[in-house]
Amino acid sequence: MSKPLDGIKIIDFTHVQAGPACTQLLAWFGADVIKVERPGSGDVTRNQLRDIPDADALYFTMLNSNKKSLTLDTKKPEGKEVLEKLIRESDVLVENFGPGALDRMGFSWERLNELNPKMIVASVKGFSDGHHYDDLKVYENVAQCAGGAASTTGFWDGPPTISAAALGDSNTGMHLAIGILTALIGRDKTGKGQKVAVSMQDSVLNLCRVKLRDQQRLDRVGYLEEYPQYPHGEFSDVVPRGGNAGGGGQPGWILKCKGWETDPNAYIYFTIQGHAWAPICKALGKPEWIDDPAYKTAEARQPHIFDIFATIETWLADKTKFEAVDILRKFDIPCAPVLTMKELANDPSLRASGTIVEVPHSVRGSYLTVGSPIKFSDLKPEVTASPLLGEHTEEVLASLGYSQQEIFNLKEIQAV
Ligand code: COA
Repeated sequence: MSKPLDGIKIIDFTHVQAGPACTQLLAWFGADVIKVERPGSGDVTRNQLRDIPDADALYFTMLNSNKKSLTLDTKKPEGKEVLEKLIRESDVLVENFGPGALDRMGFSWERLNELNPKMIVASVKGFSDGHHYDDLKVYENVAQCAGGAASTTGFWDGPPTISAAALGDSNTGMHLAIGILTALIGRDKTGKGQKVAVSMQDSVLNLCRVKLRDQQRLDRVGYLEEYPQYPHGEFSDVVPRGGNAGGGGQPGWILKCKGWETDPNAYIYFTIQGHAWAPICKALGKPEWIDDPAYKTAEARQPHIFDIFATIETWLADKTKFEAVDILRKFDIPCAPVLTMKELANDPSLRASGTIVEVPHSVRGSYLTVGSPIKFSDLKPEVTASPLLGEHTEEVLASLGYSQQEIFNLKEIQAV
């Protein structure tokens, strides 16, 4: 079956997570993604946190499926020559090296544009060009701090906190994928390539936009009524950490269920959606709360919202998180069990939808990965194994017109 990105050739000059997440997504949708890696070592994640000696680490396999691997020393003249040939016939080059690395290698935007004016050059950096920190190298947690996530995550009496979700890495990669697809559509109209740049700080901040909303509300009125600090606690002049409070107009909290004393994940998230108040009262066996003036409106409930959550926890005490959700769903109450990675890995619905996929791998046996979170009516992305280091070197060089002897010579001088 033909795929939407069939025929799009991508030079994947990425490593670690932010860049590879972007190119993996495009590979699922049909792009021919050629990962260019340093001979001998390759992407550093091949070796990081290995669980099987001599087999590519899951960190690598889970971010590089459906790609080809070409080993090439792009600092040697022979390697640069190969890369130039590849550039001339590719549609996109994606990179997430440290600031200035591509320029130092001799492949500035100007040079790339000269080699192939139709090519889209896509970059991830920690900070945007011209930013006063644009010389910094950046990893995930650094970006979460720089983008506003850390200062607004966690509890008010604890330190700034990092999220387990890759807001800095994979999230930036998803932003970059949108930028690349936009530039490809633009190229159809203009015939010209362009530079697409996404910074990790900007991508984190984009996901924290409701916190910037809250900063402006706080500046204006001095309090934030949906935060646990309201109305009994204190507000300073910056958005506080709100624990597990709902971020929109619906109060919510993580509540204990049966077994919480021994199971650290025996919890549900419970949302008190304004118009669901009557069903909530019915579900909890508290019909008298429906018209009680102390409970009837969101405004009336807010001063004693934690007493309400405590009452719900009493109701939850003899129900597992799954039993509780099965009851609450009948009342149309937005809620979910707090699911562990083990539960998600074995979830039959996620297996059936292709969100959790088992991928065969020639060295490590099969492994689980997260498949495409985007579902289409006419495309079912198939996830194939990540490539071994240099697995496709000969194939790619031959497709560029190199003879077997030339390939042998390149190997001898270790340019590949
Ligand atoms: N052949 C020869 N050299 C190669 C090569 C190849 N195939 N591929 C990469 N290199 C070289 C680069 O030219 C560069 O050399 P230079 O620094 O001498 O110019 C070097 O390898 C890579 O440098 P860098 O990207 O800075 O690696 P690092 O390990 O020091 O830093 C990061 C890693 C992630 C911190 C950094 O790349 C970075 O800040 N990237 C941008 C932000 C980002 O994406 N971070 C998130 C990662 S999940």
